[in-house]
Amino acid sequence: MTKIRFHLIAAAAVLCASAASAQAPAKLKVGLMLPYTGTYASLGTAIENGFRMYVAEQGNKLGGREIEFVKVDDESDPSKATDNVNKLIKRDNVDVLIGTVHSGVAMAMAKVAKDTGTLMIVPNAGADAVTGAMCAPNIFRSSFSNWQPGYAMGEVVAKKGHKKVVTITWKYAAGDESVRGFKEAFEKGGGKVVKELSVPFPNVEFQALLTEIAATKPDAVYTFFAGGGAVKFVKDYAAAGLKKSIPLYGAGFITDGTLEAQGNDAEGLLTTLHYADALGTPRDNSFRLAYAKNYKLQPDVYAVQGYDAAQMLGIGLTAVKGDTSKKAEFAAALHKAKIDSPRGPFTISKFNNPVQDIYLRQVSGKENKLISIASKSLTDPGRGCRM
Ligand code: PHB
Repeated sequence: MTKIRFHLIAAAAVLCASAASAQAPAKLKVGLMLPYTGTYASLGTAIENGFRMYVAEQGNKLGGREIEFVKVDDESDPSKATDNVNKLIKRDNVDVLIGTVHSGVAMAMAKVAKDTGTLMIVPNAGADAVTGAMCAPNIFRSSFSNWQPGYAMGEVVAKKGHKKVVTITWKYAAGDESVRGFKEAFEKGGGKVVKELSVPFPNVEFQALLTEIAATKPDAVYTFFAGGGAVKFVKDYAAAGLKKSIPLYGAGFITDGTLEAQGNDAEGLLTTLHYADALGTPRDNSFRLAYAKNYKLQPDVYAVQGYDAAQMLGIGLTAVKGDTSKKAEFAAALHKAKIDSPRGPFTISKFNNPVQDIYLRQVSGKENKLISIASKSLTDPGRGCRM
């Protein structure tokens, strides 16, 4: 190619690009940092599905900007989290971070988001610190704090009259904090947590601990597990013969998105969560129908949280007309909003965490059926948050 011809082509390309940009603002780059492998793989997929479904419902635009995705598999591995998030911010230049499932990974993400001022919405991980000690005006959550379902279940189990409870979970922030929330309410209600058992994440060797539970003979057991680990735990609990003798209660992740695989071993379990199957509201019905049609799958709490992360991003972006540098206006819009979630409407606290009803649910067949509202408009205390 001659030099002149090359210059002409290059000039034409610049003209075309600037004509396009005069019509439409640049695409908004969304960095999806989620687990696509390991025990939480299906959770990451459900979050992405929900997020994409909301964006598609808005004609692939939020706040007037077309959405472009960059994805990374965080493997639920905290040791890789800082590198992964830095790549999204520095190499891929994302405008917003959406992630993740695992609390340890989410805390590493939040640290970088806070240091760089990058907008971040957490679509699952409950790490209390994200909307507590590590809180920041640019970090929001569409899901829950680990404290919330745990606290609600502590009240339920105390009201049932159980006195002596053993807890069992993975030894990392989510498990520890879920148990802490449970214990706070349960002991306030007159009960006592007599033993706190754990295995390292993501181990699923439960046998020795199940033997210990049988020997301890508590009135009940409280648990936090999720994803593949939750499937295995519920099956092992039943196989050890404990389901008949010691009632098992949990944060709702123990039976959410897992019922197909758990089968009859999950039947009857009582859990607390900010979502349930068959809520029966028009909002939830239309969400469930659309999700099932799009993905040939039933939605779960993770799909709802992904969908609502996109809704929250849309609310903020609309208020700032797509300009993510207007952080204060973005946050103000979310603090004023009532988010029209399939779970039921919720608001965002001054710590940037959902204020929401926590449902008591019971497994019936392939559904987590709504029993009652365990805790109305429960707000995380945001301990340690200074903004
Ligand atoms: C978490 O690590 O915060 C976590 C993971 C999976 C869940 C819930 C919480 O289902």
